[in-house]
Amino acid sequence: MRPISQDGPPSGSGPPLEHEQVRVRRGPRSGVPVVVAVHSTVLGQAIGGCRLTGYRHWTEALDDALRLSAAMTDKCAVAGLPNGGGKTVVALPTGYVPGPAARRAILHDVADTIAELAGAYATGPDIGTGPRDMTIIAERTPYAFCRPPADGGSGDSSVHTATGVVAALRALCAAAFGSPEPAGRRLAVLGLGRVGGHLARQLAAAGADLVVTDVDPGRRALADELGATWREPEDALGCEVDVLVPAALGGILNPDTVPRLRCAAVAGPANNQLDAPATADLLHRRGILWAPDFVVSAGGIIHATAVELHHETTERAVARVRGIGDTLARILADAARTGDTPAAAAHRLARQRLDGRRLDLARP
Ligand SMILES: NC(=O)c1ccc[n+]([C@@H]2O[C@H](COP(=O)([O-])OP(=O)(O)OC[C@H]3O[C@@H](n4cnc5c(N)ncnc54)[C@H](O)[C@@H]3O)[C@@H](O)[C@H]2O)c1
Repeated sequence: MRPISQDGPPSGSGPPLEHEQVRVRRGPRSGVPVVVAVHSTVLGQAIGGCRLTGYRHWTEALDDALRLSAAMTDKCAVAGLPNGGGKTVVALPTGYVPGPAARRAILHDVADTIAELAGAYATGPDIGTGPRDMTIIAERTPYAFCRPPADGGSGDSSVHTATGVVAALRALCAAAFGSPEPAGRRLAVLGLGRVGGHLARQLAAAGADLVVTDVDPGRRALADELGATWREPEDALGCEVDVLVPAALGGILNPDTVPRLRCAAVAGPANNQLDAPATADLLHRRGILWAPDFVVSAGGIIHATAVELHHETTERAVARVRGIGDTLARILADAARTGDTPAAAAHRLARQRLDGRRLDLARP
C-alpha cells in the first residue's frame, strides 16, 4: 500500500468516497445483508429510514444506501434541520417474506449495527418497515424514530409527509399558475399508499379535480369514495393534467417517460423520482416545472424530529411542516431569477447550509 503523503491520502481512480461511514455486514442472527450508510454529520446526527425489501444482489442494496443517504443530507439541509443524511438498507433475497421470528432477528441485526455508530445515525421507517419495527430496533439501541405513540414515539409520519406535499403543491401552483389554490386544478396522484392516500384525501377536500392510480386494484375504493377518476398505472403518467404527483416508487422520470408527460408541473413525495440528475434538464427544456422530491417529501422527517428531538408541540411541528411551501417558493424564485433548474437551485441551498456549518466548525 502506498503511504499517506503530506499532501493528503493517495487518490485512486474513480470518484472519491463522499460518505463518512458505510457498514456492510451479514446479519449474525438473520444471515441477511445489512447496509448502514452515514453520508454526512456536518449539520448534526445523520437520519434516514430503514428500507427492507428484495434485491437480486446485496451490492444493489449498497448502491441504494449510498444514493439515498446522500439524498437525505440534501433533504435535511434544505429543510433547515440540524441533521445530516444516512440510510439503512436490508437486502432480502427477492421473493422472501420473513416470518415474525426472522423479521425480529433482522431488525436486531440492524439495531446492533446502528448501535456501533454510537449516535452518529438514527433510523426510522421506510419502504418495508413501520413504527412497530422501530420499537423492535429500540430494544437494542435508542436511535430509532417514529415508534408508535404508545411506545413513546411520534408514530406513522405519512400524514405529515402528505401535509408537506400539499404545502409544496400550493407553492408550485402559485409559481406555475399564479394562484396557490388546488381547487379546480387537475392533479394526477400516482400511488395511493400511505402518503398518496392521505394526500388524495387532503387534495379532494381542497376541491382539486383528481385523477388517481395504483397497481393495487384494492385502492380503487378510495378513488370512488373521493369522486376521483381512476386510471390504470400505464395510462396515468400521460394524462393531461396541471400537476403530476408521483407518490409510489422512484425512477419514474427518465428519458422514456419525460417525452410522454402532458402536464405543466410535477411535485410529489416519491423519493428519487429522477433516474439521473440530467433528467431535471430534460424536464426544464420541455417547460415542465419539477419540484425536487427531497424538498417536497420532508414533512415526515420534519415532524418526527420536531416532536421527538426538540419536544415541540404538534401545532409547532405541523407549522414547520407547512414551511416546506415557503422553502419551495424560495427555490422556485431563485431558479426563475437565475434560469437554473429548481433542482440546481435546491442543491445550491443545501450546499450553502452545509458550507456555512463547515465554516462555523472551522472557526477557533
Ligand atoms: N411514508 C412517508 O412518510 C414518506 C416520506 C418521504 C418519502 N416517502 C416516499 O413516498 C413514496 C410513497 O411512500 P408510502 O409510504 O406511501 O409507500 P406505500 O408503500 O404505502 O405506497 C406506495 C403505493 O404505490 C403503489 N405503487 C407501486 N408501484 C406503483 C406503480 N408503478 N404505479 C402506481 N402505483 C404503484 C403501491 O401499490 C402502494 O399503494 C415512496 O417513494 C417513499 O419513499 C414516503
